[in-house]
Amino acid sequence: MSVLHSVGQRIYSQPSSLHPPSLVRHRTPAQSRQGARLRRSAVVHVCAQQKTLIVSGTGNSEGIGRAAVRVFLEAGWKAVGLDVKDPEGEEDDEVLQAHKDSYKLLKADMTDSDQISDAVAQALDFFGEKRVNCLVNNAGIASPAMPKEKKERKGAFEAYIQTNLTGAFLLSEECTPYFAKGDSSIIHVSSIHAEFADPDTHGYTCAKAGMRGLSRCQAVTLDKRTRVNVIFPGYIDTPGASEEVTKEMRDWHLTGRVGSNKDIAEACLFLGDEQRSGFITGAELMIDGGVSAKLFYPQ
Ligand SMILES: NC(=O)c1ccc[n+]([C@@H]2O[C@H](COP(=O)([O-])OP(=O)(O)OC[C@H]3O[C@@H](n4cnc5c(N)ncnc54)[C@H](O)[C@@H]3O)[C@@H](O)[C@H]2O)c1
Repeated sequence: MSVLHSVGQRIYSQPSSLHPPSLVRHRTPAQSRQGARLRRSAVVHVCAQQKTLIVSGTGNSEGIGRAAVRVFLEAGWKAVGLDVKDPEGEEDDEVLQAHKDSYKLLKADMTDSDQISDAVAQALDFFGEKRVNCLVNNAGIASPAMPKEKKERKGAFEAYIQTNLTGAFLLSEECTPYFAKGDSSIIHVSSIHAEFADPDTHGYTCAKAGMRGLSRCQAVTLDKRTRVNVIFPGYIDTPGASEEVTKEMRDWHLTGRVGSNKDIAEACLFLGDEQRSGFITGAELMIDGGVSAKLFYPQ
């Protein structure tokens, strides 16, 4: 039996009986060293687990959540997406189709704790083990404007808080027992609105600002176990964005362009990957093409 058989993992090496002792005896020292290196890399390969992601708000094919699913799948992760609506465009998505066995898009309403609980159980079933390496809290009412009608404003305010903030809290709590110790991360997709307000966006602005506090509190609570960070996207060209992109808007950005769903998804992958961002927790990342760096007074 080879050493690799004994660790009880998938087998990539041949049983040692296939290598007669005479062949082994005639190896040069360099060949032996190379053999040892290959065996070590095989062991690493055998032991490496496929990392697991849960991301909310994956219903729109061009939304940030779906882009995150694609980017993590391409990096070799398993991914489960959750959304209150049926997933659109799944069949036409080349990346999803290329990784059919590694992802699942489920229906779940982030305002309903029973649905969240059920969805996380389904995700763990799909992963085949009770381990979550990364959670991206991205679902939300993406359009910031409050209704003008006085009688609708209280309900609208509460809906923003329940969906965009309480939903992130509930999904995080549900995943917490399963976060891999020292190899897990929560990423909250907040907004530039957490820092700067537009008129009449009370519900959205308060919910997104609340995610900052949630992120910091979770970071200290999940100390040594799970890293927690929050990102503030600026204008990202998705179906959820509220305005058409004009030349004036592009020029307003230091980057000469507005953001794409992939810009945010790549940042999530960076923050979710322990190897790349293992020292980053309790942090806030503005991703706005430099807009918030400008000091702006009317001329
Ligand atoms: N696009 C931007 O410019 C921008 C900027 C800053 C922040 N954001 C934030 O990024 C996130 C994604 O936005 P997007 O632009 O991809 O828009 P999007 O509308 O595609 O994404 C939001 C998703 O959340 C889902 N959702 C809404 N309520 C839900 C609920 N109760 N339960 C489960 N899912 C629910 C929607 O169905 C939708 O699929 C949002 O939280 C949004 O506030 C977007």
